[in-house]
Amino acid sequence: MSSAATDPPILQHRSTPDEPFDGKPPFEPWGRYPKYNATVVPLTWQTDYPGVIEQNEGMPAGALPVGMGRSYGDVCLLKGGHLLVTTGMNRLLHFEPETGLLTCEAGVTLAQILDFAVPRGFFLPVTPGTKYVTIAGAIANDIHGKNHHVAGTFGNHIAQFEIVRSDGTRIHCSPTNNPDWYSATIGGLGLTGLITWATLRLKPIVSRLVDYEGIQFHGIDEFLDLTNQSKDIEYTVSWIDCASNGRNFARGRDAYEVAQCNLCHRVGNAGGSVGPDLTAISSRYQRRDILSSIIEPSKVVSEQYMNTAFRLKNGDTVVGRVVEENNNRIIVQPDALKPDRVEVKLADLEVRKLSPLSPMPEGLVNVLSKDEILDLMAYLEAGGRRDHPDFSQ
Ligand SMILES: Cc1cc2nc3c(=O)[nH]c(=O)nc-3n(C[C@H](O)[C@H](O)[C@H](O)COP(=O)(O)OP(=O)(O)OC[C@H]3O[C@@H](n4cnc5c(N)ncnc54)[C@H](O)[C@@H]3O)c2cc1C
Ligand code: HEC
Repeated sequence: MSSAATDPPILQHRSTPDEPFDGKPPFEPWGRYPKYNATVVPLTWQTDYPGVIEQNEGMPAGALPVGMGRSYGDVCLLKGGHLLVTTGMNRLLHFEPETGLLTCEAGVTLAQILDFAVPRGFFLPVTPGTKYVTIAGAIANDIHGKNHHVAGTFGNHIAQFEIVRSDGTRIHCSPTNNPDWYSATIGGLGLTGLITWATLRLKPIVSRLVDYEGIQFHGIDEFLDLTNQSKDIEYTVSWIDCASNGRNFARGRDAYEVAQCNLCHRVGNAGGSVGPDLTAISSRYQRRDILSSIIEPSKVVSEQYMNTAFRLKNGDTVVGRVVEENNNRIIVQPDALKPDRVEVKLADLEVRKLSPLSPMPEGLVNVLSKDEILDLMAYLEAGGRRDHPDFSQ
């Protein structure tokens, strides 16, 4: 594929998530707007700036640091200026396991920090939705994570850093040393100078396990109530589920029959009993797990519902549900949807064991369209109730 010669050279970076800013103009932020030309100045050493600019005399004045360019807006762009690309300044400098204090150069990414810290039992105090950002970018945008209500912004965990001004002055900043520069640089969008290195306070990992609770809510009032009740929960996140309202009740109920679910499952007060009653399924499982048990029934099968497999002395096998058994024969129903029975004589039997395959056939929903499947999911989630919010418009 090639583009016409007149097309502007569109930036091709970030075809993989961890690709750094590639240095080819015009530059665009993560949100792909706007695009500006600039003079790229890759930095390798903490002492490169501002000397490196003076060597480029005749270029437009002004310089702005840029890390991984992951900002949604234009804060990492400088129209016609010098972009000081920091990703070459990517060295870890010092770590104190007693305090969790990690010092590194400005262009070190959070991904790099995690690779170093997690095996040592430490984690980032604040993590954004991507780890492919630099520590200085995280400081300059004072980023937040899903634990914002507990931990505050990234800047709360920065013990100290150094900035270099365009006149070459170096300022050591901490809450007690040049506190004004410290505060102005955290969230300062790169406008107070170039951060060369910073010290971040990592937090100890107390367990490899995470307690998780998923709570469904309907509407902003319930959401705000839940948010208030969740103040002590360390990480919270919520999203609007675009699949869960405006679903069609009648089509969901029809899909339940068309796909034959009703032959084996009960929802409300109708349906078969070959499989578990699905009326309260949404209180037991997340939607994702419900869908997975429909698409891959054999992935998890509870023992109570397992079929039994019999190998006979003549080499034949019989698999099915045991409907009756006594001291000399077992009656097996091979297909839950058909009344046919097979008799296995104990005298003919060689091996008997539980079958890992679910009695529920695969591919049942293949006869349904995507919308019908979503309506079926809503029907299950509603426990067959027409007045469920999933069906509100
Ligand atoms: C998928 C995705 C999910 C995200 N999720 C979140 C989220 O949950 N929370 C959140 O807060 N943000 C989030 N962001 C935004 C991202 O965390 C910030 O934009 C972050 O600042 C990007 O860092 P960067 O290294 O790419 O910086 P850049 O975008 O390159 O630069 C950001 C700012 O930092 C300045 N800067 C860079 N290096 C230096 C330096 N050495 N000295 C001084 N200033 C410097 C730049 O001038 C610019 O103003 C997300 C972004 C993406 C793409
Ligand atoms: C031939 C009978 C049969 C049919 C038809 C059938 N199922 Fe099942 N289903 C079962 C059995 C038996 C189980 C329990 C064993 C297992 O987990 O696979 C089960 C398990 C499930 C589970 C997991 C329930 C739990 O509590 O673990 C869900 C959800 C489910 N079925 C949904 C459906 C839906 C939706 C349909 C229609 C598209 C359907 N089933 C059709 C027999 C059937």
